[in-house]
Amino acid sequence: MANSITKTKFQEIKEKTEKFIVGNYSRHEISFEYGVGEYLFDSEGKQYLDFQSGIAVTNLGHSEADIIAALQEQADKLFHTSNLFYSKEQAELAETLIAHSFPGKVFFCNSGTEANEAAFKLARKHSVKKGISNPIILALKGSFHGRSTGAMSMTGQEKVRQGFGDLVSGFHFIQENDIEDLEKAFSKHSGHIAGMIVEPILGEFGVLPIREEFLKRARELTASEGAPLIFDEIQTGMGRTGKLFCFQHYSFTPDIMTLAKGLGSGFPMGAVIIGEKFSNVLEPGSHGTTFGGNHLAAKIGYETIRVLKTRDILNNVPALSEFFFKRLKMLQLKFPETIREVRGIGLHIGVELTIPVKSIIKKCLENGLILNGTNEKVIRILPPLNIGIERIDEAVSIIEKVFEGENLK
Ligand SMILES: Cc1ncc(COP(=O)(O)O)c(C=O)c1O
Repeated sequence: MANSITKTKFQEIKEKTEKFIVGNYSRHEISFEYGVGEYLFDSEGKQYLDFQSGIAVTNLGHSEADIIAALQEQADKLFHTSNLFYSKEQAELAETLIAHSFPGKVFFCNSGTEANEAAFKLARKHSVKKGISNPIILALKGSFHGRSTGAMSMTGQEKVRQGFGDLVSGFHFIQENDIEDLEKAFSKHSGHIAGMIVEPILGEFGVLPIREEFLKRARELTASEGAPLIFDEIQTGMGRTGKLFCFQHYSFTPDIMTLAKGLGSGFPMGAVIIGEKFSNVLEPGSHGTTFGGNHLAAKIGYETIRVLKTRDILNNVPALSEFFFKRLKMLQLKFPETIREVRGIGLHIGVELTIPVKSIIKKCLENGLILNGTNEKVIRILPPLNIGIERIDEAVSIIEKVFEGENLK
């Protein structure tokens, strides 16, 4: 007998997903079909305001014309050859990354995890070359650096580390924003320190900015050990905080910076910017990847930076951010028992609640607003950098309506 119940497009996608794809993600009951600017449209035609940007990836919104044109132009010519040959696109992207960050060289890879893995290997290799027998890398307790064995071992958050048996040894975790703990770690491991890795804003830990004094002290202490200070700018980079890179808010420079997410505007790619002091540590054979910085990825990365730097996008972020914070703080005044703190830099915003955010995120989605929950009680807001101020108003009004509907105080 023929099945008389017609499935929706979404039901078909969901059924196949559950049958054929590993269940390591908990997914919302939505499948998107296309996107235009700050809007996404699902399989059933419903429109959403995207204030998650694929977790800080589509910083220019969806279907950005110049990115599509660059992709199409390159796709017509050449996708991939391998790192056994020179590449014009790769060389040009490296040149522009260095011009906009600090003097040094670039290593290309395919994701944030791989960028951190490369930085980790570089730091260890450098210290072993120096004759350090048991190198220690310092990281933060609330950090998230990725899911490979190395990047996971470098991650402080227990929930990421648990369940895999013994991890890579040689890490010491410091309490974020605690200068005393930072200094203690440096004096305990002095002479053995291979490097320190820091996210300037702990994204997966609830959008927690690291204070400038702490970062500055980390800069001084790593310099005195001759060890690299590594900034993980995978989430904070590519304009998210209003500067191309978050370190540019401060008066000092890291030795190494890892990038991914927004670098490819949705095309998977990663990069490690390695300052001059450390740029010759990785020699032929010591590290590599097949795809890293292939012609297509590099072309899109270059175009992403060109668009960010030549349009008035970054200059507008402070005003957008100020308006967003003002509206969210007004919301906090209305719901003082529910909203504990509004924090972040630029358009990297966290709203910490006193309650879990899961059902709030779900209700916002039902009302056509895509947000992201992180660290259980934090609403993470990552809109495209080129949105209009009216969209911010619209988003906060949806959050307000959801709070009211839930009878929050
Ligand atoms: C700060 C930070 N580092 C590393 C990663 C890992 O990047 P990927 O998921 O591209 O491997 C992430 C991803 O969320 C991140 O936010």
